[in-house]
Formats: sequence, C-alpha cells, structure tokens
Amino acid sequence: MKTIATLAVLLSAVSAKKLTLRSVKANQELATTTSCDKQKCPAAWRPKPNHHTLSGSTSADCCDKTCELFTCRGVYRSNEAYWGNVGNSPQVCCDKMCGTDFECDVGYVLADATAPGVSKKDCCQPKCQLFECTAPWAPSAAKKDVVASSAEECCEKTCAAVNCSLPGWAPNKSKELEIGSTPEDCCTPLCGNSAQVKCPFGSAVKDEDVNKTSDGTDEGCCAPQCKAYKCSDGFAPNVAKDDAFGASDEECCLPTCKKFECSMEMGWAPFPAVESDIGDNATQCCLATCKQWTCNATEGWLPYPEGAKDNTTGASNSICCMPACEKYSCSSAKGLMKIPTAKTVGGTTDEECCESSKCDDVRNKMAKMEDKEVCNGLEKEKCLKKYAKVKQGNSPAIVMCSFDETYNLCRYDTDSAIKGGCTEI
Ligand SMILES: *[C@@H]1O[C@H](CO)[C@@H](O)[C@H](O)[C@H]1NC(C)=O
Ligand SMILES: *[C@@H]1O[C@H](CO)[C@@H](O)[C@H](O)[C@H]1NC(C)=O
Ligand SMILES: *[C@@H]1O[C@H](CO)[C@@H](O)[C@H](O)[C@H]1NC(C)=O
Ligand SMILES: *[C@@H]1O[C@H](CO)[C@@H](O)[C@H](O)[C@H]1NC(C)=O
Ligand SMILES: *[C@@H]1O[C@H](CO)[C@@H](O)[C@H](O)[C@H]1NC(C)=O
Ligand SMILES: *[C@@H]1O[C@H](CO)[C@@H](O)[C@H](O)[C@H]1NC(C)=O
Repeated sequence: MKTIATLAVLLSAVSAKKLTLRSVKANQELATTTSCDKQKCPAAWRPKPNHHTLSGSTSADCCDKTCELFTCRGVYRSNEAYWGNVGNSPQVCCDKMCGTDFECDVGYVLADATAPGVSKKDCCQPKCQLFECTAPWAPSAAKKDVVASSAEECCEKTCAAVNCSLPGWAPNKSKELEIGSTPEDCCTPLCGNSAQVKCPFGSAVKDEDVNKTSDGTDEGCCAPQCKAYKCSDGFAPNVAKDDAFGASDEECCLPTCKKFECSMEMGWAPFPAVESDIGDNATQCCLATCKQWTCNATEGWLPYPEGAKDNTTGASNSICCMPACEKYSCSSAKGLMKIPTAKTVGGTTDEECCESSKCDDVRNKMAKMEDKEVCNGLEKEKCLKKYAKVKQGNSPAIVMCSFDETYNLCRYDTDSAIKGGCTEI
C-alpha cells in the first residue's frame, strides 16, 4: 500500500512546475487575469501550493485537480483513499491491479487478479503445499492446493490433540502421529466400553476387567462363559451357571447319575434310565434292592433265606418277601392241615405248608420208638402210642404201630404211613 502523504508531496511538486509553465503562458494569452488569492477552488480541486503568488482566470490557473476527478481505467482501479490527493494520473490516483496474467512462483497462486498489487508479495498467495505441518499437526495431501498458510487450514489434526482420558477410553501413544480427531480414531477402548468391544456369544467382560485396555481385540477382553462350555461325558449343563465365567466341568456342570456308583452292598442297584439325569446320591441315581426292605411279618411276609433277594431291585413285600404258610390253605379234603410253624415258615405249596391231619395226634398222643424198639411184641395199649420215623426214598415218612386184633399182634402199619412226615418230628 502506498503512503498517501509521501505521494501527495511528490506530486504537488511536479504539478506545480507544470502549472507554473502553463499559467505563464496563459497569462500572456489572457489579458483579464485576477489574483488567485481572490479565487475559490471548486469542489475536488485544491489551491496550488504557491497560490497566493499566482493570478489567473481559470480554476486550472490557481488550483490543482484531486484524484477524485481522475478516472482509473484498464489495469488501474480506483481507490477512494487517494481522492483527497492532488493528482491526475493513474500512477498517482489509482492502484495497479495484479492482472490476470500476473505470474506467481511455483507453490503460489494469483489469488485475485483485481486486487491491487504490483509484486509477487502483493499478488501471490502461498498454497498449503508450502506450509510445514508440525506436531500435533500432520501434512494433508488433500489440502495441498488450498490457498492458505495456517495449520488449521493446511494440516490434519493428529491424535496427539485428542484427549483420550474419557470414560471407556485410554490413550494409545503409538497413534499420536496418526491423523484423527475422535476417540474412535485415536484411543484404545477399555474392555468395559461395550459400544466398542463386542464379545462373541458365550463370552463377556468380567467386572474386574472393565478398566483393562482391549489391545484392539475381543480376546483380551472377553472371557468364556459356561453357556459356551460343553460338559464332558458324565456331566450335564448347570443352567444356573449359564452366565457365570468358566470353562470346566467343575465350574459349569453338574454330575449325572452316570458317574454315581450304586453299591449293591448298601442295597442299591444301577438305574440305567436315569443315567443322564443330574444327581449324586443313591436316592436319585439307584434303585433300591430288597436288601433294604423289611418284610412285614404281621401281614404274613417273611424274608427269603440267606439274602436270596438281596440283589433284586424292589421295595414291596410281594417282590422281596416270601409269603408265610400262614397265608396258605391246606385242603382237609386231601387229609391235610397247616403245619404248626406256618407263621414262621414261608411257602406256597402243599409240600411246604401242609402236613397230614394225623400229625397232630402223632405229636400230641404218640411217642417215637427207641432205636432198637419195634412194633412187634408191644402190648395193644403201648402199640397204639408208638411210631417210627423212616425214609421212603428220599422223603421222610412216619409209620405208626397198629394192633392186629385177629392175630393179637402189634405191627407196622405201612399202608397208612404219613408221607413227608410231620413237622418237628
Ligand atoms: C481430558 O478430559 C478429562 C475429562 O473430561 C479431563 O478431566 C482432563 O483434564 C482432560 N485432559 C486434558 C489433558 O485435557
Ligand atoms: C474402573 O474405573 C472406574 C473409573 O475410574 C472406577 O470407578 C471403577 O471402580 C473401576 N473398576 C474396576 C473394576 O477397577
Ligand atoms: C495402538 O495403536 C497401534 C497403531 O495404530 C495399534 O497397532 C495398536 O493395536 C494399538 N494398541 C492398542 C492397545 O489398542
Ligand atoms: C440326593 O440329592 C438330592 C438333590 O441334591 C437331595 O434333595 C436329596 O436329599 C439327596 N438325598 C440324599 C440321601 O442325600
Ligand atoms: C405291617 O403291617 C401292619 C398291618 O398292615 C401294619 O400295621 C404295620 O405298620 C406294618 N409294619 C411295618 C413295619 O410296616
Ligand atoms: C449280590 O451281589 C454281590 C455283588 O455283586 C455278590 O457278591 C453277592 O453274592 C450277590 N448276592 C446274591 C444273593 O446274589
């Protein structure tokens, strides 16, 4: 920009010289001249510096034009700042424009052809390619042709300028020189930042890990949950632990009956139907055997001898016990009656439960013969009270003595032998 004051002084000197010549000439031509002192300069004119020593008949004789009266044309443009100046040329009264064909150096552009200016400094403006972006700013290829020379206009913000101390985020030093302006671009999410860290199905972030940095992968943050664990053979999922953290049978599963051993000695037999059920005790996992059953004698049930049913599964009198002979009917038509020990002896057949109806008499009214005793020779009274225990094949039998009146003789009555014998004889 020109300094108007300097210019005004310079120009008034030049004009004064010219005007002096001209006014001398005019004075010679024109007879009717008056002292300039007496004249008043019109608007936009200024009295000449030596005005009081001059005389003339026109404004031009006594006054100088100011730039306000000058019209700037072509590569010159008007500037009101000069209007008060004395002057009558584009050099004095106008600004030279840079012009459309002004040439700028590489990296500069002619910003405005109509802007006043005559030098590269006036007319050319640097492009961002000349601007050096320094930390925390990084160069931007996209902005290299932008006409500007500030970091804000020419550079990209780097992560160094981003405050990562926000809830859910932590700084990542190695990103400081990267371009970015958001936590997403520039910071490391914490494991607890659920918008950033998405755990796959069957895993989640442990409470104690919410402030851990994620190292950029879910693996660092997400711990496996029981719902993703497959229980081994002999275990079944514990649904109550679905959301718990864990990856082992102990943490995530419950034992099934398959793992439980049923002890025959304790009266438990395996129960295959519940093998895959959750359970860890005999009540759940085993079938009771008769070993645990107490036969109800009051109802006529007796235990089998020698624990014969100990390994049989069951829990009822009918499965585990044998009926006492007490419950059995012996046919009197067949000459049978219940054995005297019917309450304490089990059985369901004539053989087991019945004996001859004669046995009562044998037991109560008769006596067994001594070893060497025989029926023969016994008197009638004695003969009728004696019997012998013998064997018929493999079975016992009782043969009584009977008195033969015809021969007056006591003899063995084999025809009426009691087959099978009598109880307790
Ligand atoms: C970053 O932001 C946090 C929370 O808004 C604030 O407490 C902390 O002073 C900031 N740090 C810097 C370096 O600006
Ligand atoms: C995690 O950080 C927050 C904020 O600093 C704090 O309130 C919280 O107790 C921390 N949690 C754990 C498990 O460290
Ligand atoms: C930190 O930034 C670097 C560079 O981008 C990246 O490779 C790394 O995974 C980041 N570290 C974390 C913990 O996010
Ligand atoms: C067996 O386990 C079930 C379920 O845990 C329990 O209710 C029951 O009392 C247990 N029985 C025995 C005999 O321990
Ligand atoms: C045996 O059966 C009787 C009669 O039905 C009953 O009163 C008694 O309680 C039973 N005893 C046992 C040990 O179950
Ligand atoms: C029952 O089983 C046990 C063991 O399996 C065996 O030692 C015992 O002899 C069995 N008892 C009977 C009466 O079968």
